[in-house]
Amino acid sequence: MMKKIPVLLMGCGGVGRYLLQHIVSCRSLHAKMGVRLRVVGVSDSKSLVVPIDVLKEELNDEYLSEVCRVKSTGSPLTTLGGLGGYRVVNDPESRSETKALEELLGKSTGLAVVDCSASMETIELLLKAVDLGCCVVLANKKPLTSTMEHYDKLVLHLRRIRHESTVGAGLPVIASLNRIISSGDPVHRIVGSLSGTLGYVMSELEDGKPLSQVVQAAKTLGYTEPDPRDDLSGMDVARKALILARLLGKRLIMDSIKIESLYPEAMGPGLMSVEDFLQNGIVKLDENIEGRVKRASSNGCVLRYVCVIEGSSVQVGIREVPKDSPLGRLRGSDNIVEIYSRCYEKQPLVIQGAGAGNDTTAAGVLADIIDLQDLFP
Ligand SMILES: NC(=O)c1ccc[n+]([C@@H]2O[C@H](COP(=O)([O-])OP(=O)(O)OC[C@H]3O[C@@H](n4cnc5c(N)ncnc54)[C@H](OP(=O)(O)O)[C@@H]3O)[C@@H](O)[C@H]2O)c1
Ligand SMILES: *[C@@H]1O[C@H](CO)[C@@H](O)[C@H](O)[C@H]1NC(C)=O
Repeated sequence: MMKKIPVLLMGCGGVGRYLLQHIVSCRSLHAKMGVRLRVVGVSDSKSLVVPIDVLKEELNDEYLSEVCRVKSTGSPLTTLGGLGGYRVVNDPESRSETKALEELLGKSTGLAVVDCSASMETIELLLKAVDLGCCVVLANKKPLTSTMEHYDKLVLHLRRIRHESTVGAGLPVIASLNRIISSGDPVHRIVGSLSGTLGYVMSELEDGKPLSQVVQAAKTLGYTEPDPRDDLSGMDVARKALILARLLGKRLIMDSIKIESLYPEAMGPGLMSVEDFLQNGIVKLDENIEGRVKRASSNGCVLRYVCVIEGSSVQVGIREVPKDSPLGRLRGSDNIVEIYSRCYEKQPLVIQGAGAGNDTTAAGVLADIIDLQDLFP
Protein backbone atom coordinates (compact mmCIF):
# COMPACT_ATOMS: atom_id res chain seq x y z
CA MET A 1 0.00 0.00 0.00
CA MET A 2 1.24 3.44 -0.98
CA LYS A 3 0.79 6.17 1.63
CA LYS A 4 -0.52 9.41 0.11
CA ILE A 5 0.34 12.84 1.48
CA PRO A 6 -1.80 15.62 -0.01
CA VAL A 7 0.20 18.88 -0.11
CA LEU A 8 -1.03 22.45 -0.33
CA LEU A 9 1.84 24.85 -1.08
CA MET A 10 1.54 28.52 -0.17
CA GLY A 11 4.27 30.59 -1.81
CA CYS A 12 5.91 29.84 -5.08
CA GLY A 13 9.10 31.89 -4.97
CA GLY A 14 12.67 30.63 -4.89
CA VAL A 15 12.02 28.03 -2.17
CA GLY A 16 8.51 27.00 -3.23
CA ARG A 17 9.59 26.32 -6.81
CA TYR A 18 12.58 24.25 -5.71
CA LEU A 19 10.25 22.28 -3.47
CA LEU A 20 7.97 21.45 -6.42
CA GLN A 21 11.01 20.40 -8.46
CA HIS A 22 12.28 18.20 -5.64
CA ILE A 23 8.85 16.58 -5.23
CA VAL A 24 8.79 15.69 -8.93
CA SER A 25 12.39 14.48 -9.11
CA CYS A 26 11.99 12.33 -5.97
CA ARG A 27 8.98 10.39 -7.33
CA SER A 28 10.78 7.06 -7.67
CA LEU A 29 12.72 7.45 -4.41
CA HIS A 30 9.49 8.16 -2.54
CA ALA A 31 7.75 5.26 -4.31
CA LYS A 32 10.46 2.94 -2.97
CA MET A 33 9.77 4.36 0.49
CA GLY A 34 6.06 3.68 0.00
CA VAL A 35 5.03 7.35 -0.05
CA ARG A 36 3.46 9.54 -2.66
CA LEU A 37 3.12 13.32 -2.45
CA ARG A 38 -0.04 14.63 -4.13
CA VAL A 39 0.13 18.37 -4.73
CA VAL A 40 -3.49 19.51 -4.49
CA GLY A 41 -2.96 23.27 -4.50
CA VAL A 42 -0.36 25.96 -5.09
CA SER A 43 -0.82 29.63 -4.23
CA ASP A 44 1.07 32.88 -4.68
CA SER A 45 0.17 36.30 -3.27
CA LYS A 46 -2.77 36.71 -5.61
CA SER A 47 -4.31 33.36 -6.41
CA LEU A 48 -4.60 29.63 -5.86
CA VAL A 49 -4.55 26.83 -8.44
CA VAL A 50 -6.43 23.64 -7.59
CA PRO A 51 -7.80 20.63 -9.45
CA ILE A 52 -11.56 20.79 -9.97
CA ASP A 53 -12.02 17.60 -7.93
CA VAL A 54 -9.37 17.70 -5.16
CA LEU A 55 -10.41 14.33 -3.76
CA LYS A 56 -9.69 12.49 -6.99
CA GLU A 57 -7.27 14.73 -8.85
CA GLU A 58 -3.92 16.38 -8.19
CA LEU A 59 -1.80 18.94 -10.04
CA ASN A 60 0.20 16.62 -12.30
CA ASP A 61 3.95 16.87 -12.79
CA GLU A 62 3.65 18.52 -16.17
CA TYR A 63 1.41 21.20 -14.69
CA LEU A 64 3.78 21.70 -11.72
CA SER A 65 6.64 22.30 -14.17
CA GLU A 66 4.46 24.83 -15.92
CA VAL A 67 3.74 26.53 -12.57
CA CYS A 68 7.50 26.78 -11.95
CA ARG A 69 8.19 28.08 -15.43
CA VAL A 70 5.51 30.78 -15.24
CA LYS A 71 6.51 31.90 -11.72
CA SER A 72 10.21 32.03 -12.58
CA THR A 73 9.46 34.57 -15.33
CA GLY A 74 7.93 36.76 -12.61
CA SER A 75 4.34 36.31 -13.83
CA PRO A 76 1.47 35.69 -11.42
CA LEU A 77 -0.22 32.27 -11.28
CA THR A 78 -3.30 33.83 -12.88
CA THR A 79 -1.53 33.80 -16.26
CA LEU A 80 -1.75 29.98 -16.23
CA GLY A 81 -5.49 30.16 -16.78
CA GLY A 82 -7.77 27.25 -16.01
CA LEU A 83 -6.11 24.53 -18.07
CA GLY A 84 -8.27 21.42 -18.47
CA GLY A 85 -9.18 19.96 -15.08
CA TYR A 86 -7.68 22.83 -13.06
CA ARG A 87 -9.10 26.07 -11.67
CA VAL A 88 -7.42 29.35 -10.82
CA VAL A 89 -9.10 31.15 -7.93
CA ASN A 90 -8.16 34.77 -7.36
CA ASP A 91 -7.93 36.80 -4.17
CA PRO A 92 -10.02 37.19 -2.00
CA GLU A 93 -11.94 34.00 -2.90
CA SER A 94 -8.63 32.10 -2.84
CA ARG A 95 -8.62 32.36 0.97
CA SER A 96 -12.07 30.89 1.46
CA GLU A 97 -11.19 28.27 -1.15
CA THR A 98 -8.06 27.36 0.82
CA LYS A 99 -10.12 26.98 3.99
CA ALA A 100 -12.61 24.80 2.12
CA LEU A 101 -9.73 22.60 0.97
CA GLU A 102 -8.36 22.34 4.53
CA GLU A 103 -11.82 21.42 5.76
CA LEU A 104 -12.45 18.84 3.06
CA LEU A 105 -9.09 17.06 3.37
CA GLY A 106 -8.02 17.75 6.97
CA LYS A 107 -10.19 15.11 8.59
CA SER A 108 -10.46 12.69 5.65
CA THR A 109 -7.22 12.09 3.73
CA GLY A 110 -5.17 14.50 5.84
CA LEU A 111 -3.40 17.53 4.36
CA ALA A 112 0.06 19.03 4.72
CA VAL A 113 -0.21 22.81 4.50
CA VAL A 114 3.24 24.07 3.52
CA ASP A 115 4.13 27.75 3.95
CA CYS A 116 6.97 28.86 1.68
CA SER A 117 5.80 32.46 1.58
CA ALA A 118 7.48 35.34 3.37
CA SER A 119 4.15 36.77 4.47
CA MET A 120 2.37 37.55 7.75
CA GLU A 121 -0.91 36.92 6.00
CA THR A 122 -0.75 33.13 5.99
CA ILE A 123 -1.20 32.92 9.78
CA GLU A 124 -4.99 32.89 9.61
CA LEU A 125 -4.97 29.97 7.14
CA LEU A 126 -2.39 28.08 9.18
CA LEU A 127 -4.37 28.44 12.42
CA LYS A 128 -7.45 27.24 10.58
CA ALA A 129 -5.42 24.30 9.23
CA VAL A 130 -4.40 23.30 12.76
CA ASP A 131 -8.05 23.52 13.89
CA LEU A 132 -9.12 21.30 11.01
CA GLY A 133 -6.62 18.54 11.76
CA CYS A 134 -4.12 19.36 8.99
CA CYS A 135 -0.35 19.16 9.35
CA VAL A 136 1.72 22.33 8.97
CA VAL A 137 5.22 22.70 7.51
CA LEU A 138 6.92 26.08 7.55
CA ALA A 139 9.89 27.73 5.89
CA ASN A 140 8.26 31.06 6.73
CA LYS A 141 9.46 32.39 10.10
CA LYS A 142 6.78 35.02 10.54
CA PRO A 143 3.92 32.80 11.81
CA LEU A 144 6.16 31.43 14.59
CA THR A 145 7.41 34.87 15.66
CA SER A 146 4.02 36.51 15.97
CA THR A 147 2.19 36.65 19.33
CA MET A 148 2.50 33.89 21.97
CA GLU A 149 -1.19 33.16 21.40
CA HIS A 150 -0.57 32.39 17.73
CA TYR A 151 2.51 30.35 18.59
CA ASP A 152 0.67 28.24 21.17
CA LYS A 153 -2.10 27.49 18.68
CA LEU A 154 0.32 26.56 15.90
CA VAL A 155 2.30 24.12 18.04
CA LEU A 156 -0.76 22.73 19.84
CA HIS A 157 -0.25 19.32 18.20
CA LEU A 158 3.52 18.97 18.31
CA ARG A 159 3.49 15.88 16.08
CA ARG A 160 1.74 17.77 13.31
CA ILE A 161 4.05 20.74 12.82
CA ARG A 162 7.53 20.86 11.33
CA HIS A 163 9.63 23.97 10.74
CA GLU A 164 13.21 22.82 10.33
CA SER A 165 13.92 25.29 7.50
CA THR A 166 13.01 28.35 9.57
CA VAL A 167 16.42 28.20 11.29
CA GLY A 168 19.61 27.44 9.37
CA ALA A 169 17.75 26.37 6.21
CA GLY A 170 18.31 22.61 5.75
CA LEU A 171 20.62 22.21 8.77
CA PRO A 172 19.14 19.87 11.41
CA VAL A 173 19.07 22.49 14.17
CA ILE A 174 15.46 22.07 15.32
CA ALA A 175 15.59 18.28 15.01
CA SER A 176 18.77 18.12 17.12
CA LEU A 177 17.31 20.43 19.75
CA ASN A 178 14.10 18.41 19.89
CA ARG A 179 16.09 15.24 20.54
CA ILE A 180 18.03 16.88 23.35
CA ILE A 181 14.88 18.36 24.86
CA SER A 182 12.92 15.11 24.74
CA SER A 183 15.70 13.22 26.48
CA GLY A 184 15.38 15.59 29.43
CA ASP A 185 18.84 17.04 28.89
CA PRO A 186 18.49 20.69 29.90
CA VAL A 187 19.81 23.21 27.34
CA HIS A 188 21.57 26.02 29.20
CA ARG A 189 22.77 28.10 26.34
CA ILE A 190 22.66 28.42 22.57
CA VAL A 191 25.06 30.62 20.64
CA GLY A 192 24.59 30.82 16.90
CA SER A 193 25.69 32.66 13.81
CA LEU A 194 22.46 32.39 11.85
CA SER A 195 22.87 34.85 9.01
CA GLY A 196 24.95 33.84 6.00
CA THR A 197 25.28 37.49 5.07
CA LEU A 198 26.47 38.66 8.49
CA GLY A 199 28.72 35.59 8.79
CA TYR A 200 30.40 36.60 5.55
CA VAL A 201 30.64 40.26 6.62
CA MET A 202 32.20 39.43 10.00
CA SER A 203 34.78 37.03 8.60
CA GLU A 204 35.81 39.56 5.94
CA LEU A 205 36.17 42.29 8.59
CA GLU A 206 38.58 39.99 10.40
CA ASP A 207 40.93 40.30 7.39
CA GLY A 208 41.08 44.07 7.94
CA LYS A 209 38.69 45.15 5.18
CA PRO A 210 36.44 48.15 5.83
CA LEU A 211 32.75 47.43 6.54
CA SER A 212 31.55 49.60 3.65
CA GLN A 213 33.67 47.69 1.15
CA VAL A 214 32.65 44.29 2.54
CA VAL A 215 28.93 45.10 2.39
CA GLN A 216 29.29 46.41 -1.17
CA ALA A 217 31.06 43.19 -2.17
CA ALA A 218 28.42 41.06 -0.42
CA LYS A 219 25.70 42.90 -2.30
CA THR A 220 27.49 42.41 -5.63
CA LEU A 221 27.89 38.70 -4.88
CA GLY A 222 24.13 38.48 -4.28
CA TYR A 223 24.62 37.53 -0.61
CA THR A 224 22.43 40.35 0.71
CA GLU A 225 18.79 41.34 0.39
CA PRO A 226 18.19 44.04 -2.26
CA ASP A 227 18.42 46.52 0.63
CA PRO A 228 21.41 45.25 2.67
CA ARG A 229 19.99 47.00 5.74
CA ASP A 230 17.43 44.16 5.92
CA ASP A 231 20.38 41.92 6.84
CA LEU A 232 22.34 44.50 8.84
CA SER A 233 19.38 45.29 11.11
CA GLY A 234 19.65 41.85 12.75
CA MET A 235 15.87 41.37 12.55
CA ASP A 236 16.10 38.11 10.64
CA VAL A 237 18.58 36.68 13.15
CA ALA A 238 16.29 37.82 15.97
CA ARG A 239 13.36 35.93 14.39
CA LYS A 240 15.43 32.74 14.27
CA ALA A 241 16.61 33.27 17.84
CA LEU A 242 13.03 33.72 19.00
CA ILE A 243 12.02 30.46 17.31
CA LEU A 244 14.84 28.61 19.10
CA ALA A 245 14.04 30.27 22.45
CA ARG A 246 10.36 29.37 22.16
CA LEU A 247 11.32 25.79 21.30
CA LEU A 248 13.15 25.74 24.65
CA GLY A 249 9.89 26.76 26.29
CA LYS A 250 10.70 30.44 26.84
CA ARG A 251 7.61 32.61 26.56
CA LEU A 252 9.10 35.61 24.81
CA ILE A 253 8.05 38.02 22.09
CA MET A 254 10.10 39.89 19.46
CA ASP A 255 10.04 43.07 21.59
CA SER A 256 11.81 41.30 24.46
CA ILE A 257 14.88 40.57 22.31
CA LYS A 258 17.79 42.97 22.55
CA ILE A 259 18.91 43.53 18.95
CA GLU A 260 22.06 45.38 17.94
CA SER A 261 21.62 46.88 14.47
CA LEU A 262 24.81 47.49 12.49
CA TYR A 263 23.56 50.91 11.36
CA PRO A 264 22.08 53.77 13.43
CA GLU A 265 18.40 54.71 13.23
CA ALA A 266 19.25 57.89 11.32
CA MET A 267 20.43 55.72 8.41
CA GLY A 268 17.24 53.64 8.42
CA PRO A 269 15.19 52.84 5.29
CA GLY A 270 12.62 55.55 6.07
CA LEU A 271 15.26 58.27 6.26
CA MET A 272 17.88 57.31 3.69
CA SER A 273 17.68 55.66 0.25
CA VAL A 274 19.60 52.42 -0.39
CA GLU A 275 21.95 54.25 -2.78
CA ASP A 276 22.62 57.04 -0.29
CA PHE A 277 23.25 54.50 2.46
CA LEU A 278 25.73 52.52 0.34
CA GLN A 279 27.52 55.58 -1.06
CA ASN A 280 27.58 57.97 1.89
CA GLY A 281 26.07 56.38 4.98
CA ILE A 282 27.92 53.18 5.60
CA VAL A 283 31.45 54.63 5.23
CA LYS A 284 30.76 56.60 8.41
CA LEU A 285 30.54 53.29 10.28
CA ASP A 286 33.91 51.92 9.09
CA GLU A 287 36.11 53.49 11.77
CA ASN A 288 34.10 52.32 14.76
CA ILE A 289 33.94 48.72 13.53
CA GLU A 290 37.62 48.72 12.64
CA GLY A 291 38.42 49.73 16.22
CA ARG A 292 36.29 46.90 17.58
CA VAL A 293 37.95 44.36 15.28
CA LYS A 294 41.40 45.48 16.50
CA ARG A 295 40.41 45.39 20.18
CA ALA A 296 38.99 41.89 19.75
CA SER A 297 42.14 40.75 18.01
CA SER A 298 44.33 42.00 20.85
CA ASN A 299 42.22 39.80 23.17
CA GLY A 300 42.81 36.72 21.00
CA CYS A 301 39.26 37.07 19.74
CA VAL A 302 37.31 37.80 16.57
CA LEU A 303 33.95 39.51 16.17
CA ARG A 304 30.89 37.48 15.23
CA TYR A 305 27.29 38.54 14.79
CA VAL A 306 25.49 36.05 16.98
CA CYS A 307 22.38 35.26 18.93
CA VAL A 308 22.86 34.25 22.54
CA ILE A 309 20.02 32.44 24.26
CA GLU A 310 20.60 31.92 27.95
CA GLY A 311 18.25 31.86 30.95
CA SER A 312 15.32 34.09 30.10
CA SER A 313 17.33 36.39 27.85
CA VAL A 314 17.80 36.46 24.11
CA GLN A 315 20.37 38.85 22.68
CA VAL A 316 21.37 39.46 19.11
CA GLY A 317 24.46 41.42 18.14
CA ILE A 318 28.24 41.56 17.78
CA ARG A 319 30.23 39.53 20.32
CA GLU A 320 33.92 38.82 20.77
CA VAL A 321 34.51 35.07 20.55
CA PRO A 322 37.82 33.21 20.95
CA LYS A 323 39.62 32.79 17.62
CA ASP A 324 40.10 29.16 18.49
CA SER A 325 36.45 28.18 18.97
CA PRO A 326 33.94 26.72 16.51
CA LEU A 327 32.39 30.18 16.10
CA GLY A 328 35.76 31.89 15.82
CA ARG A 329 36.94 29.48 13.13
CA LEU A 330 33.82 30.02 11.04
CA ARG A 331 34.56 31.48 7.59
CA GLY A 332 32.37 32.68 4.75
CA SER A 333 28.61 32.39 4.72
CA ASP A 334 28.10 29.15 6.68
CA ASN A 335 25.76 29.14 9.65
CA ILE A 336 26.78 27.60 12.96
CA VAL A 337 24.95 26.77 16.17
CA GLU A 338 26.62 25.80 19.45
CA ILE A 339 24.32 24.04 21.92
CA TYR A 340 25.37 23.73 25.58
CA SER A 341 23.48 21.31 27.82
CA ARG A 342 24.25 18.88 30.63
CA CYS A 343 25.45 16.28 28.13
CA TYR A 344 27.25 18.89 26.04
CA GLU A 345 28.63 20.93 28.88
CA LYS A 346 32.20 22.02 28.11
CA GLN A 347 32.30 21.02 24.47
CA PRO A 348 29.06 22.12 22.82
CA LEU A 349 27.14 20.18 20.22
CA VAL A 350 28.00 22.04 17.01
CA ILE A 351 25.91 22.13 13.86
CA GLN A 352 27.47 23.89 10.91
CA GLY A 353 26.94 24.24 7.18
CA ALA A 354 25.15 26.22 4.49
CA GLY A 355 22.32 28.07 6.21
CA ALA A 356 20.60 29.54 3.17
CA GLY A 357 19.83 28.84 -0.46
CA ASN A 358 16.62 27.93 -2.22
CA ASP A 359 17.68 24.35 -2.96
CA THR A 360 18.86 23.50 0.58
CA THR A 361 15.91 25.22 2.21
CA ALA A 362 13.45 23.38 -0.03
CA ALA A 363 15.22 20.08 0.73
CA GLY A 364 14.66 20.79 4.44
CA VAL A 365 10.96 21.42 3.77
CA LEU A 366 10.64 18.20 1.78
CA ALA A 367 12.30 16.17 4.54
CA ASP A 368 9.82 17.76 6.99
CA ILE A 369 6.87 16.66 4.85
CA ILE A 370 8.20 13.10 4.57
CA ASP A 371 8.75 13.07 8.33
CA LEU A 372 4.96 13.44 8.74
CA GLN A 373 4.16 10.32 6.70
CA ASP A 374 2.99 8.23 9.67
CA LEU A 375 0.09 10.63 10.19
CA PHE A 376 -1.32 9.86 6.74
CA PRO A 377 -3.40 6.89 5.67
N1 LIG B 1 15.79 31.42 0.37
C1 LIG B 1 16.40 31.02 1.46
O1 LIG B 1 17.61 30.81 1.47
C2 LIG B 1 15.62 30.79 2.73
C3 LIG B 1 16.22 30.15 3.82
C4 LIG B 1 15.46 29.89 4.98
C5 LIG B 1 14.15 30.30 5.03
N2 LIG B 1 13.60 30.96 3.97
C6 LIG B 1 12.21 31.40 4.07
O2 LIG B 1 11.45 30.74 3.07
C7 LIG B 1 10.37 31.57 2.68
C8 LIG B 1 10.37 31.67 1.17
O3 LIG B 1 11.54 32.31 0.72
P1 LIG B 1 11.75 32.70 -0.80
O4 LIG B 1 13.15 33.12 -0.93
O5 LIG B 1 11.22 31.61 -1.65
O6 LIG B 1 10.76 33.96 -0.91
P2 LIG B 1 10.21 34.66 -2.23
O7 LIG B 1 11.04 34.26 -3.41
O8 LIG B 1 10.00 36.07 -1.89
O9 LIG B 1 8.78 33.96 -2.46
C9 LIG B 1 7.68 34.22 -1.66
C10 LIG B 1 6.45 33.63 -2.32
O10 LIG B 1 5.35 33.75 -1.43
C11 LIG B 1 4.24 34.24 -2.15
N3 LIG B 1 3.27 34.87 -1.25
C12 LIG B 1 3.29 36.10 -0.68
N4 LIG B 1 2.20 36.28 0.09
C13 LIG B 1 1.48 35.13 0.02
C14 LIG B 1 0.26 34.70 0.58
N5 LIG B 1 -0.46 35.51 1.38
N6 LIG B 1 -0.18 33.45 0.29
C15 LIG B 1 0.51 32.63 -0.51
N7 LIG B 1 1.69 33.00 -1.07
C16 LIG B 1 2.16 34.22 -0.82
C17 LIG B 1 4.82 35.17 -3.16
O11 LIG B 1 3.87 35.40 -4.17
P3 LIG B 1 4.18 36.33 -5.46
O12 LIG B 1 4.97 35.42 -6.36
O13 LIG B 1 2.80 36.60 -5.99
O14 LIG B 1 4.89 37.52 -4.97
C18 LIG B 1 6.04 34.34 -3.60
O15 LIG B 1 5.65 33.39 -4.56
C19 LIG B 1 10.58 32.92 3.38
O16 LIG B 1 9.74 33.01 4.50
C20 LIG B 1 12.04 32.88 3.80
O17 LIG B 1 12.29 33.64 4.97
C21 LIG B 1 14.30 31.19 2.83
C1 LIG C 1 16.45 32.03 -4.90
O1 LIG C 1 15.36 32.30 -5.72
C2 LIG C 1 15.15 33.68 -5.94
C3 LIG C 1 13.84 33.83 -6.68
O2 LIG C 1 13.85 33.03 -7.84
C4 LIG C 1 16.33 34.24 -6.72
O3 LIG C 1 16.15 35.64 -6.94
C5 LIG C 1 17.58 34.02 -5.89
O4 LIG C 1 18.71 34.45 -6.63
C6 LIG C 1 17.72 32.56 -5.54
N1 LIG C 1 18.83 32.44 -4.61
C7 LIG C 1 19.86 31.63 -4.82
C8 LIG C 1 20.92 31.64 -3.77
O5 LIG C 1 19.93 30.90 -5.79
